[in-house]
Amino acid sequence: MFEICHLGFAICFIIPYSRIFADFMVIFLYMIKQKIAEKIKKAFKKEFNIALDEVDLSYPESQFGDFSVSCHKFAKDLKMSPQEIAQKLSETLKDKLIAKTEAIAGYLNIFVDSGMLSKEVLSDILNQENAYGSSKITKQKIVLEYSSPNTNKPLHLGHARNNMLGMSLSCLLESQGAEVIKTQIINDRGIHIMKSLVAYQKLGNNETPESAGMKGDHFVGKYYVLFDEETMMDEAQEALRKWEAGDAKVVKLWEQMNKWVYEGYEDTYRDLGSEFDKDYYESEIYKSGKEIVAQGILKDVFKKEEDGSVSINLEDIDLDKKILQRADGTSIYITQDLALAVERQKEFKADSLIYVVGQEQEYHFKVLFEILKRLGYEWAKNLRHLSYGLVFLPEGKMKSREGKVVDADDIIAEVEDLAAKEIKKRFPEISDAELGQRSDAIGLGALKFMLLRVTPSQAIHFDPKEAISFEGSTGPYVQYVFARISSILENMELPEIDDVDFSLLAEKEEKELVLKLMQYPEVLSSAAENYNPSALCNYLLELSQIFNSFYHKHSVLKAEGGTVRDARLCLIASARIVLKNGLNILGIEAVSKM
Ligand code: ARG
Repeated sequence: MFEICHLGFAICFIIPYSRIFADFMVIFLYMIKQKIAEKIKKAFKKEFNIALDEVDLSYPESQFGDFSVSCHKFAKDLKMSPQEIAQKLSETLKDKLIAKTEAIAGYLNIFVDSGMLSKEVLSDILNQENAYGSSKITKQKIVLEYSSPNTNKPLHLGHARNNMLGMSLSCLLESQGAEVIKTQIINDRGIHIMKSLVAYQKLGNNETPESAGMKGDHFVGKYYVLFDEETMMDEAQEALRKWEAGDAKVVKLWEQMNKWVYEGYEDTYRDLGSEFDKDYYESEIYKSGKEIVAQGILKDVFKKEEDGSVSINLEDIDLDKKILQRADGTSIYITQDLALAVERQKEFKADSLIYVVGQEQEYHFKVLFEILKRLGYEWAKNLRHLSYGLVFLPEGKMKSREGKVVDADDIIAEVEDLAAKEIKKRFPEISDAELGQRSDAIGLGALKFMLLRVTPSQAIHFDPKEAISFEGSTGPYVQYVFARISSILENMELPEIDDVDFSLLAEKEEKELVLKLMQYPEVLSSAAENYNPSALCNYLLELSQIFNSFYHKHSVLKAEGGTVRDARLCLIASARIVLKNGLNILGIEAVSKM
């Protein structure tokens, strides 16, 4: 009855990344699926007197129905063949939702009444609108850390990926009912910060971002690049000592330079849509790291070496020996992380803490989590590192001054520029204001989608031209479908749901679309559970494709007979809602005009 020919189910591709949710959350099943699951439970009870907790309903290939239950695992207990079990269930299972059942090869295949299904799914979407797909299934409190820059440079392309992952993950988790506290640790102290400071002291001549006409973070980054390891290193070390001792002059300049940096970050964060509930500063917490080190020595978890350095030996779990404090008593990167974790947990008492940090720090987080466990922190088992791969650009393109990393701001400007050119081609008459608005939305949509479409663990090869294309697996492709539906619905009033005959949505493409829309809540919860926004990207691409094949074949406004038109209006209005909800979770604006 329902033909799902080429539907790729996004949920099948998801790699179970982390399992913190699994203990707390059952994947949210769509209502109709739940109803059918209930019927099947009843049938089991009636036929075999078994009370099932859960029913595994899968999506079979279209010719085998809309849902299917494998009866193989019951065969042993019931001393019957799977086929016999399926047969018996098929005979008992009767409901107005179910058009037909079949028992094939030990599977119970269920064909849902398509009119009922369309009515159920579409009226649910139309009634819930923005809330469609969300649930309250988890009550977890989650502290999420992302972005976390060093205040000696602007944010780079890798940060853009990090920020996209952080923000979309936060929206995904919130869509499942979690309370998410978004944080960043700002690494604002240490020798690398002193490098830009010393270079500025020597070469700055009282220049300011204003006088140089530069964004504050780029301005400070400029001095970091001007730092000369050979001639200035001693001074940087001296500056660090002075800073630690609270030297007024050094501290004042340090504050000024950081302020410039934060002003610069603010713009980039606004473009990326990043927000934080709480910023932590390394300068404020690094000292308590030393206290934790001292406690660790007392607890015999850490060892004080002869040279005065402190270390932990993790060779028993192949993590080597790790220094936690240098011989001169200065703390290192991991020392601040010990303090930060303890501090955050004290403050928020979260059920879990997720760090969005690049792949190159996997070892660091393994060690950190292990140390916290050995120090006896019960909550250490709830720490997760969401690691992600590098972002590459097409060779030879867009290199920064150092010839290495590319600034996030430059990439943002590039995609917005490309978007503007594309729009201008289509609408030569467009006003500047309108052009500016649309190119921001489309350019950023392109960038964000490209950065999220790839599974976090994989590297990205980012080509701005490809990202901005209105065709292909891109953000603008999805945005375009949204705009297309918006223009069809412009000035149209939707019919009263109760007056619509949903059984008229009988075409293959219509059924495909309804089924795809039905899957949205599951895709969302699964993407959240697996910390994998790319599953949502894939879903939105598939949904867009299905909409396009529907619209290619069938007319909406000119549909024969007002009643078919009404049903189709509801169908595409529902698709519009789901596209918008999905894009919003990814931090991408759904625009009515492209
Ligand atoms: N600022 C660090 C860097 O750029 C990343 C910090 C990651 N977070 C943490 N808690 N260690 O490498």
